[in-house]
Amino acid sequence: MPELSRIAGSLLRTKPVEQLASDGEHTALRRSMGLVPLISLSVGATLGTGIFVVLGEAAPLAGPAVVISFAIAALAALFSALSYAELAGAVPVSGSAYSYTYATLGEIIAWVCGWCLLLEYGVSVAAVAVGWGAYLNEFLGSTIGWRIPDALSSAPSEGGIINLPAAVVVLIAMLVLLDGIRESARVTTVTTLIKVAVLVFFVVVAVTAFDSGNLHPFAPAGVAGIGAAASMVFFSFIGFDAASTAGEEAKNPQRDLPRAIIISLGIVTLMYVLVALTAVAAVGVDEVSGSGASLATVLESVTGKGWPATILAAGAVIAIASVVLTVLYGQTRILVAMSRDGLMPRVFSRVGVKRVPTVNTLIVGGVVAVLSALVPLGELVNATNIGTLVSFGLVNIGVLVLRRTKPELPRTFRTLVPLVPALGVVMCVWLLAHLPGVTWLAFLLWSSVGLLVYFGYGRRRSLLNRTQPSGGGDDS
Ligand code: ALA
Repeated sequence: MPELSRIAGSLLRTKPVEQLASDGEHTALRRSMGLVPLISLSVGATLGTGIFVVLGEAAPLAGPAVVISFAIAALAALFSALSYAELAGAVPVSGSAYSYTYATLGEIIAWVCGWCLLLEYGVSVAAVAVGWGAYLNEFLGSTIGWRIPDALSSAPSEGGIINLPAAVVVLIAMLVLLDGIRESARVTTVTTLIKVAVLVFFVVVAVTAFDSGNLHPFAPAGVAGIGAAASMVFFSFIGFDAASTAGEEAKNPQRDLPRAIIISLGIVTLMYVLVALTAVAAVGVDEVSGSGASLATVLESVTGKGWPATILAAGAVIAIASVVLTVLYGQTRILVAMSRDGLMPRVFSRVGVKRVPTVNTLIVGGVVAVLSALVPLGELVNATNIGTLVSFGLVNIGVLVLRRTKPELPRTFRTLVPLVPALGVVMCVWLLAHLPGVTWLAFLLWSSVGLLVYFGYGRRRSLLNRTQPSGGGDDS
C-alpha cells in the first residue's frame, strides 16, 4: 500500500509555480518581443489552412450555418483563451498548456498534455504544410500555367511519391527559426499583415455578390451538422495560444501575454465569420466546397478568372507559410520546456550560438518535413483537433485548480471562475463528442505510446524525481 501511494504521489507531483517562473527568468533565450510581435505571432499561427482550405470541407456538413459553426468553435476557443490568459499571466514561461498543467494538475497530466501538444503543434504543422503545397500549385497553375507534377506534390497514399513543396516549406521555416527569434518575429509580422489584408480583400470583393438567397436553407443538417462542422473548423482557431509558448522571449510577459491572446482571438474570429458569411452568400455552399482552393474559387465565380483570384492564391501561399513558421516555433519551445523538466532528452533544451535551441529545431524541422512529405492532409486535421481539445480542456481545469491551491499568486488577468473555465470544459467535451470514431481510436493509440514513453523514460529522469523523490506536490 505505501508503495502504491508513493507511485501515485510521484505521478501527481506538481512543479512549484515559483520554480517555473524562476526557470523562465534564468532563461538563455532572448527577451525581444513586445505586444505587437506577440499578437502577430498568435494571429500568424492561427490564420491559415483552416480558413483557406477547411472552410470548404466543413461547409457541406453544416450548410450556410457553417458560419454558426465558426462562432461555436470561437466560443470554445474564447473560454479556453481566457483560461490561457490567466495562466499565461501567472506562469509566464515557455511551454504553454504543458507548463500550466505541470504547475496545477501534476506530472502525469502535464505529460499527457505535452504529448497532446505534439499533435496540436507538430502534427498540425505537417498538415498545414501539405495545404501550402496545394495552394502553391494553384498559384503556379494560375500564373505560369505549370504545376508541380502529382508524383512530386502528393503523399504516397494519394498516388504520389513525395510531397516535395510541403517538405521544402517546413525546411525553409526551420532555417528562419535557426537564424534567431528576432528575425523570425519580423518575418511573422510582415506575413501576418499580408494575410489579414488578403482576407479583407476577399471580403470586400465577395460582398459585392452577396445574395441572401444563397443562405437558404440555412441549416439543412441541423444541430448535428453544425456540431460536426464546428469540431472540424476548430482547426482554424488552433494557434491563438502560440503567444503563450513565447513566455520567455516576451519583454513583459505578465502584461502582454494575456492581451496578445485575447486580441488575436478577436481578430481571427472576426475574419472567419466575415469570410465564411460572404463566401457562402456570394456563391452558395456547393461552390465553396467545390475545390481545395475554395476562396480562390469563390473569387473566380464572382469576378471571373483574373487577378483577384491570383492575388488570393498568392496571399494563401504567404499565409500558410507563416503558419508553418509560427507553429514550428511553438513546437520547439514546448520541447524546450519538457526537456528542461527532464521528461524529454536534454538535447532539446540546449541553446546554440544564436541563442535558439539549435538541435531541437533541427530535429523538429526534420521530423515534420518527413511527415508532411509522406502523410496526406485530411487524416491529420482531426488528429490535431482531438489533441488540442484535450489540452484546452486541461488548461481550463488547471485554472480552477490553481485558484484553489494558489489563491495568493499574482495574476495580471483573471477569468470569471468557475463559470468561464467550466464552460470551456463543456465546449471542449461537446466538440470532442462530434469527432469521428476513427479519430478517437487513433488518439487512444497515440496516448498509449505517450504513456509508454513516460513510464519508460520521463518518469525516472524527471527533474522533480530528484527534488521530490518520494512524490508529493509542491507546497500547495
Ligand atoms: N489554425 C491553423 C490553420 O488554420 C492551424 O492553418
